Amino acid sequence: MSTAKKIALVTGGMGGLGTAMCKLLAKSGFTVVTTYMSDEDKKAKWLADMSKDGYDIKAYKCDVASYDSCTGTVTKIKEELGAVDVLVNNAGITRDGTLKRMTKESWDAVIDTNLSSVFNMTKQVIDDMTEKGWGRIINISSINGQKGQFGQANYSAAKAAIHGFTMAVAQETAKKGVTVNTIAPGYIATEMVMAVPEDVRNKIISAIPVGRLGKPEEIAALVGYLVSDLAGFMTGAELAINGGQHMM
Ligand code: CAA
Ligand code: NAP
Repeated sequence: MSTAKKIALVTGGMGGLGTAMCKLLAKSGFTVVTTYMSDEDKKAKWLADMSKDGYDIKAYKCDVASYDSCTGTVTKIKEELGAVDVLVNNAGITRDGTLKRMTKESWDAVIDTNLSSVFNMTKQVIDDMTEKGWGRIINISSINGQKGQFGQANYSAAKAAIHGFTMAVAQETAKKGVTVNTIAPGYIATEMVMAVPEDVRNKIISAIPVGRLGKPEEIAALVGYLVSDLAGFMTGAELAINGGQHMM
C-alpha cells in the first residue's frame, strides 16, 4: 500500500471507534490527525496515552457541526501538515427519546453533528483529493440508519441520509481517483452504547446473532481495507458490520 506521508483525518478520533481507527491508520503508515471537542485535560490525557503506546497523533479542536470551525481547522491542518488524503467522518452523538418527547434542540443537535458535519468536513478536503487524483472518504453511519430504531428518529434520519450523500459524491468523484463509502456498524462496545440503559441494552444484545457487542477494532479493520489501494474499485458502497443483527 503506497501510504507514505499520506494524511488521514479522523473526526471524533478520541471516542471509542475513533481511537481504534487512529491506531490502525497510524500502524498502516499514515500521518494521523484527529479532531476533538472535549476539554483540554481530556485531550492531553488521550494524547499521552497514545504516545505511551507509541502512536504520534496530532489533534485539532473542531466543532464538526459548525462549517466555519471545519474550514478553520482544515486550513490549519493544511498549513501545518499538508492536504488531507483520507477523511473519516466519524464524530457523532445520540439524543435518544421517542418522537413524542423529542425536542427541536435534540433534533437539531443530532442532524447538525451527525449529518451536516459530513458536508462541513468533506467540502474542506474534496478539491485537494480530486486535484491529486487520489482520496478516500469514509462516512460512519449506523445499523439504525438502515433499519430505524425506536427512540432514534433524529439519529436514524441523520444516519440514513449520510448514505445518500455517499452515493452522490461517489459518482461525482469516481473518475478522479477518490472513493466515497459508508460503514454502517451495529452495536459496538463504546461509551455511546454504554449510555443505553442496561436493561434495554441487554435486550438489544440478546437480538444480535453473534451474541455480543462488536469491538471498535472490528470497525477499524474495515476502515483499513477501504483506505488501501486495493479498495480502489469499491465506491458508493454501504458496508454493514453488525454481528448479523440486520441483513439486507
Ligand atoms: N420496540 C417497541 N416498543 C419499545 C421498544 C422497541 N424497541 N423499546 C421500548 N419500547 C416500549 C417499552 O416496552 C415501553 O412500553 P410500555 O409503556 O407499554 O411499557 C415504552 O416503549 C417506553 O419504553 P421506555 O420505558 O424504555 O421509555 P423511555 O422513555 O424511558 O425510554 C428510549 C425510551 C430512550 C427510547 C429507551 O427505550 C432507549 O434508550 N432505547 C434504546 C435506543 C437505542 O437503541 N439507542 C441506541 C444508542 S447507541 C447508538 O446509537 C449507536 C448505534 O448506531 C448502534
Ligand atoms: P463516542 O465514543 O461517543 O465518540 C464520539 C466522538 O464524537 C467523540 O470523540 C466526540 O468528541 C466526537 N464529537 C461529538 N460531537 C462532536 C462535535 N460537535 N464536533 C466534533 N467532535 C464531536 O462514540 P463512538 O461509539 O465511538 O461513535 C463514533 C461514530 O460511530 C459515531 O458517528 C456513531 O454514531 C457511530 N456509530 C457508533 C456505533 C456504536 O455502537 N458505538 C454504532 C454505529 C455507529 P469529544 O469526546 O471530544 O466530545
